[in-house]
Amino acid sequence: MNVNRREALKSALAFAVVPLMPSFALAKNDGGFFELTAQTARKPLHNVPDKLSELWTYNGELPGPKITITAGERVKVRFKNMLDEPTSVHWHGIRIDNAMDGVAGLTQEPVMPGDVFDYDFIAPDAGTYWYHAHNMSWNQVPRGLAGPLIIQDKEPMVPDAQDITMVLSDWILDENGQLNTAAFGSPGLFSHGGQLGNWLTVNGVSLPDISLTAGKWHRLRLINASSARVLDIDPSRFGAELIGYDGQTFLKPVKTEGPLRFAPAQRMDLIVKPKEAGTVPFEMVTGKPFTFANFIVLPNESVEENTIDLPQPNDLPLPEISAARLLPLVMVGGAMGQLDQLVYKGEELSGSRFMETKQFWGLNGVAGMEMDKPYFTAKRGETIMLESENQTAWPHAMHIHGHHFQVLEINGEVQESHVWRDTFLAERGDKVRIAFVADNPGKWLIHCHMLGHAASGMMNWFEVV
Ligand code: C2O
Ligand code: CU
Repeated sequence: MNVNRREALKSALAFAVVPLMPSFALAKNDGGFFELTAQTARKPLHNVPDKLSELWTYNGELPGPKITITAGERVKVRFKNMLDEPTSVHWHGIRIDNAMDGVAGLTQEPVMPGDVFDYDFIAPDAGTYWYHAHNMSWNQVPRGLAGPLIIQDKEPMVPDAQDITMVLSDWILDENGQLNTAAFGSPGLFSHGGQLGNWLTVNGVSLPDISLTAGKWHRLRLINASSARVLDIDPSRFGAELIGYDGQTFLKPVKTEGPLRFAPAQRMDLIVKPKEAGTVPFEMVTGKPFTFANFIVLPNESVEENTIDLPQPNDLPLPEISAARLLPLVMVGGAMGQLDQLVYKGEELSGSRFMETKQFWGLNGVAGMEMDKPYFTAKRGETIMLESENQTAWPHAMHIHGHHFQVLEINGEVQESHVWRDTFLAERGDKVRIAFVADNPGKWLIHCHMLGHAASGMMNWFEVV
């Protein structure tokens, strides 16, 4: 082979293998179980290949392997804990059987080191979801314990190769580019914006290339797996349209303008049909745009239709607004906030008690939760309307377990689209009104998904009986 041919072949090959995102799908074993093991692994987080970080992972992968099932299917996961610390797995956003919700201390005992726990549930709704550790989440998630859970539509909108999952994570790295776990749990971080990192990865990779094909429709499933980082993403900058939030698809695509705030635990589904081959940056547009991945658009002769049919939205129970029970959800505390009003375990917090208890945040004046005192008890089928007000100086991403809710009003502005969510972002001063049908029996958490905030008080629970 002469040099030119070899060169030509090399570049052709290079083209064919243009660094596709690593495929990280998980297959079932013979018994129909997905096998998921929490274990340590060493991987690079920054693009310095020899600077490895000590991580806690599912199956040694970062993010955890992609679990894909079809809507309505029964999911069986055999989970093994090979870490030295108890843990559990929460299936975020699934209207799940309470016993399978994976909240250590509320819905199950933590899975002890060496132990196995079988998760077995029906996943009713198609969409983009994720799973993550739910014991000491503030410590376990930012070490790597999170992965995507894709509930595929019965008739997928696009072929597999055009259905792209992007797990966005931020990391606290030290000056060597290695995970700085020493910074975890610091009162300074907890009482401010939470454990904000200083580096971003997509699917565990630093500045990856993501292959798209010109003229073809792609579905992008974005998952913000960060511990506290609100990402600003502007789909219009790469020609994408919004088709859903938090697993729930809209009736039709929405062309957005400008940045969308994308809070921890939220998901954003997009569609995009790139016009031509080339490189398109994927950026965080908070302040100066920061590229943390690139779309490599491959050339292609044929062009698909201009429109694409969205999957059928999920059939969620509609809140009965006129009969709703209205409850306040007032977020208080934190640095530069009114800490003096917080009650923790029946005792008013003040002075040095904040540092001793590490409780800085509260909901309705109460820091943390008491097992015998739910925030509220709903009768199964009752519509609950929460009137939230963020009286703190920081944003919060409030998540409700086991249910999806509709966002009715933001700062007095009626939301006609009534978007479904399982996590909503409340900026400083925001008043957000949401409603949902409490139709899933059991004990459910409601907490801030800035995981350090949840650990330091912004967490409570409610019961559906
Ligand atoms: Cu994503 Cu309580 O969790
Ligand atoms: Cu918060």
